[in-house]
Amino acid sequence: MNLVEEIMRLKEEKNAIILAHNYQLPEIQDIADFLGDSLELARKVVNVDADIIVFAGVDFMAETAKILNPNKKVLLPTRRATCAMAHMLKVEHILEAKEKYPDAPVVLYINTMAETKAYADVTVTSGNAARIVEKLEADTVIFGPDNNLAYYVAKKTGKRIIPIPEGGHCYVHKKFTLEDVRRARKEYPNAKLMIHPECNPEVQEQADLIVSTGGMVRNACQHDEWVVFTEKEMVYRLQKLYPDKNFYPANEDALCIGMKSITLKHIYEALRDEKYEIEVPEEIAIKAKKAIERMLEMSK
Ligand code: 13P
Ligand code: SF4
Repeated sequence: MNLVEEIMRLKEEKNAIILAHNYQLPEIQDIADFLGDSLELARKVVNVDADIIVFAGVDFMAETAKILNPNKKVLLPTRRATCAMAHMLKVEHILEAKEKYPDAPVVLYINTMAETKAYADVTVTSGNAARIVEKLEADTVIFGPDNNLAYYVAKKTGKRIIPIPEGGHCYVHKKFTLEDVRRARKEYPNAKLMIHPECNPEVQEQADLIVSTGGMVRNACQHDEWVVFTEKEMVYRLQKLYPDKNFYPANEDALCIGMKSITLKHIYEALRDEKYEIEVPEEIAIKAKKAIERMLEMSK
């Protein structure tokens, strides 16, 4: 059986669409109907004209798609596709912070689960976090769960950012160190460094460009050689888009296990058996939707 042909046949038969994040395996990037960063994917799902959305990404992304499309079937191809950072933030962390800073809005990274998004005043992605916090009237903001993105936002906006939970991080981006920066500069002296804001502050300080994965796609045209400080598969995406330029992974071990757990076979089985369907309880979805829609409105 040719898996790609079967996927294409089932997609047509069931009026389905495959959305994929930039960290997906190359063979999945190659068959996706739409490929993007968290913000681009959230924007895309608002206008999807399909009965079934197969989400080749991690759990919080599929949940976001379901919240924005309650009447569509949203499928996550394997239950193992989870974002470790999204699960670090609990409702209790938000309530504790609210008690200490009752006037501070709660700004949550889209990398959170729906039950916590329901407590957010607005969500953000790495692509719009600084812009949205800047626009908020408040000078003190509760922000979770990525402490490194919180650092970036504080630096960009000059506002007081209260990070929750303590030590919230992405294990993939934590892997990048100053040693990777030194090696990059030595091995590729003409290259510039593009760095995701989930990386540690001392690594961010060395960047020529700090952007979301979508920002990497848009800005790569500015230079011919780049060292890429984010999940390894981003290099495949960039190299395919810009075959005349050179992209090097800063650290080959920067792999997101959740993203990498999805295979072509999972996508085929997801379409065939219509699994695993994402459900979000209505009372949570209604509140979370407000926070996501506010983000989409504020980042227009
Ligand atoms: P982007 O929105 O930049 O694609 O980031 C998503 C993510 O999970 C980064 O680890
Ligand atoms: Fe989550 Fe990190 Fe994987 Fe992104 S790379 S999905 S933040 S675990």
